[in-house]
Amino acid sequence: MNSGKGAKRVRFIHLTDPHLTSLGATSFTAQRGKRKLGYLSWKRKRRYIHLREILDQVTNAILAEGADQILITGDLVHICIPDEIQQAQSWLNSLGSPEQITLVPGNHDIYQSGCWQNIAAAWGSYLGLTSPPESELPADSYPMVKQIGNFNLVSLSSSEPMPFYSAQGRLGKTQIKKFTHMLDTLSGQSTGWLIHHPPLPGLTGNRRALAETAELKELIEQYQPVFVLYGHNHRNVQTRIHNTRVLGTASASSKYDASYRVIDIFTDESPVQIKMSLHQRTPDSGTFSEIATEYWAGGQVVAAL
Ligand SMILES: [Fe+2]
Ligand SMILES: [Fe+2]
Repeated sequence: MNSGKGAKRVRFIHLTDPHLTSLGATSFTAQRGKRKLGYLSWKRKRRYIHLREILDQVTNAILAEGADQILITGDLVHICIPDEIQQAQSWLNSLGSPEQITLVPGNHDIYQSGCWQNIAAAWGSYLGLTSPPESELPADSYPMVKQIGNFNLVSLSSSEPMPFYSAQGRLGKTQIKKFTHMLDTLSGQSTGWLIHHPPLPGLTGNRRALAETAELKELIEQYQPVFVLYGHNHRNVQTRIHNTRVLGTASASSKYDASYRVIDIFTDESPVQIKMSLHQRTPDSGTFSEIATEYWAGGQVVAAL
């Protein structure tokens, strides 16, 4: 592998599901609809798992890694109230400029109707939006592509308001059609895909699953992205399909296993060469250690037959 001096390297860092906000300034009675459930979940459980001081440690560790692009696969907040959106915006600003960050929405960011318009107004430049969305559904603004060197990052939205007790995701027929067309136009170029929900069948239970995992699996097999990054499960999981690595990362604020991934891509090789290292915080010491490292030769976009 040509990873020596002079090799062109693009460094991505993946973090996900920071759930960084506090609901301490609001109350159960101030909430309506599904937000009442989400507030109780935060009050009874989530606020003891997702700790801001741990996210701050992860943030500092990531900033020291010197990424070309930080990739965030959603769930910045809990129930998407305006105060949370502001808290998350401050954190995004501390992490980097919109040019340095690619963000896709999670189901907690699109907790109820109206959330998309509100997060688009506050985080729009990080989400890659160039104008306020006309549709209430995030899916109508996706897929998006961002070119980093000669590598193409493709963002998908799997999040839309769901009924009580559902954390499911959906891409929708229109987004999948546009996505397939986009991949055809990127024929012969390297891609990496970002999505909040686990993209393959069997990675999570039905109540939390993406509707189109079978279709996405077929697209991965056909177009062979270098990687597919996701969140939602709050666990470090790695799946291999041909030359593609499908990588789920634990929550960046978890007191148990806060993690991030460093993905170095050497783009002057054909196919591109990749080194991925998974860094996890040790709860007792608060230090980070590299718990997994992997090298592979990347996938490539193959034109549709
Ligand atoms: Fe989450
Ligand atoms: Fe989620």
